[in-house]
Amino acid sequence: MKFFVDTADTQAISDLNDLGMVDGVTTNPSLILKSGRDILEVTKEICGIVSGPVSAEVVALEAEAMIAEGRKLAEIAPNITVKLPLTWDGLKACKVLSGEGKMVNVTLCFSANQALLAAKAGASFISPFIGRLDDIHIDGMDLIQDIRTIYDNFGFETEILAASIRSVNHVQDSALIGADVITAPPEVIKKLAAHPLTDKGLEQFMADWAKTGQKIL
Ligand code: G3P
Repeated sequence: MKFFVDTADTQAISDLNDLGMVDGVTTNPSLILKSGRDILEVTKEICGIVSGPVSAEVVALEAEAMIAEGRKLAEIAPNITVKLPLTWDGLKACKVLSGEGKMVNVTLCFSANQALLAAKAGASFISPFIGRLDDIHIDGMDLIQDIRTIYDNFGFETEILAASIRSVNHVQDSALIGADVITAPPEVIKKLAAHPLTDKGLEQFMADWAKTGQKIL
């Protein structure tokens, strides 16, 4: 399973990348706002850190303008993935940009039917938002499972990029279902290493080691 980091914080991306935990990056207008940086500048910097796909989102709402923005974003670096919203215009832009050989990530997906349309329009990635479904008391993991089943039924190659990941359980459940990629904030990725029994066990080992009076180095 691939790990994308859902952030435009270049320091956080670098730190995780040094550990080999970053297969790609996703950004969106809210994350660009949070970074406080210019979209073209920060995206270029991210593309210099990470060799995998880096999603940069268009902000136009009509297909022609989305296509123009997508082409401009794609000029930043060869690993740019143009991120488009799941609307009819977004699908139209997806068809055109993917036809030009650009990677496209169709975002804001909340139903299996939407995911089916994105695959037919040639998307490289579909981004179902788990956390935001959970927020309205719909199990986001059911959507990941449904999309997995539909894509497997028909051999669609669009990768399922489980997004709006808020917890370590979202990561584990996505992996069990067989999502191709998860994109999560750096804090969630770091939390994957945490377990209270690991902390407790380490504490005991350290206490016993101190009693031996020995040193390794
Ligand atoms: O990748 C999409 C993600 O940024 C949305 O997450 O937590 O704002 O729903 P969230």
